[in-house]
Amino acid sequence: MAIWGHTADGTAVPIYTLTSGQVEVRVMAYGAHLVSVRAPDRNGKMADVALGFDKLDDYLKVPNPYLGAIVGRYGNRIARGQFTLDGKTYQIPVNNGPNALHGGPKGFDRYVWQSQEVPGGVEFTHVSPDGDMGFPGTLTAHVKYTLTGNTLRIDYSATTDRDTVLNLTNHAYFNLNGDDQGTILNLKMQLDADKFTPVDAGLIPTGELAPVAGTPLDFRKPEIIGARIDDNNEQMKLAGGYDFNFVVNGTPGTLRPAATVVDPENGRKLTVETTQPGVQFYTGNFLDGTFTGRHGVQYTKHMGFCLETQHFPDSPNRPDFPSTELKPGHTFHSTTTFTFSVVK
Ligand code: GLA
Repeated sequence: MAIWGHTADGTAVPIYTLTSGQVEVRVMAYGAHLVSVRAPDRNGKMADVALGFDKLDDYLKVPNPYLGAIVGRYGNRIARGQFTLDGKTYQIPVNNGPNALHGGPKGFDRYVWQSQEVPGGVEFTHVSPDGDMGFPGTLTAHVKYTLTGNTLRIDYSATTDRDTVLNLTNHAYFNLNGDDQGTILNLKMQLDADKFTPVDAGLIPTGELAPVAGTPLDFRKPEIIGARIDDNNEQMKLAGGYDFNFVVNGTPGTLRPAATVVDPENGRKLTVETTQPGVQFYTGNFLDGTFTGRHGVQYTKHMGFCLETQHFPDSPNRPDFPSTELKPGHTFHSTTTFTFSVVK
């Protein structure tokens, strides 16, 4: 552990380095961010494969693109920032056009979490008070990062003292070429998803679960990410690239494959498994060069991809979607693993 810096109010921010095998991961207490991942290619050449900043100060800027952040209390979008729970309507301040995104203007990514070292890693804890960003109930959230072999595992858990809703995820942007090596359009990805949740112009789900078959969202077999990104497809045009929630095949609650991404040139491979019902595949469509990351590189469109394992967007307004409600006396659990290997 080291102190990486301080927030504006003088709070110290610990940063932790996890090493195992050839993978090295850094995580910090501010926003429980995944700061960096160093992984070898097929010739053993190491590179940073997750986008990030050199200094804590860059993470403190608002707004920022959530590079590696834990987003909450409700990751992704809630239509008009509104939902009804137990007959009462709640309003989350909107921060993405008419909608609430990633928990509203001051989400979990903007707090210094408590930290505790655990075998193989670190556990971060954040207590969100009743009424925080409009959400009901005091929510205690834990995010545990552990590294075993080449696998980074993130375990999420949470409890509440009143009925509430939650959706926790990690917003890491990966680039298997290396974080200073241009776009991710050359990477080959496979998604274990037969269906996705189509969206409207505000990227709010219409409620339908639509087959990916016959669309540029069909990654059931490995496909180059950039191959169909400019296709004349109504959903792709609305999102300006990929920015969709895919329904992960299999049974939510069981750890099962969600995605595999391979760099055909250097052999790096990322495998994602999750217990969550969905995964948001996002191709950094909003990165516009405003932010300069590590190695002095300006982050422009498509320089990273996110695989945000999650509950479906706007679930509090969609009784048909897997429920995001949490009640007192129950503990929310989810697990996602990111494995960094190589193909020969
Ligand atoms: C998620 C959303 C995107 C975008 C990013 C943050 O991936 O789905 O639309 O808001 O977060 O820039």
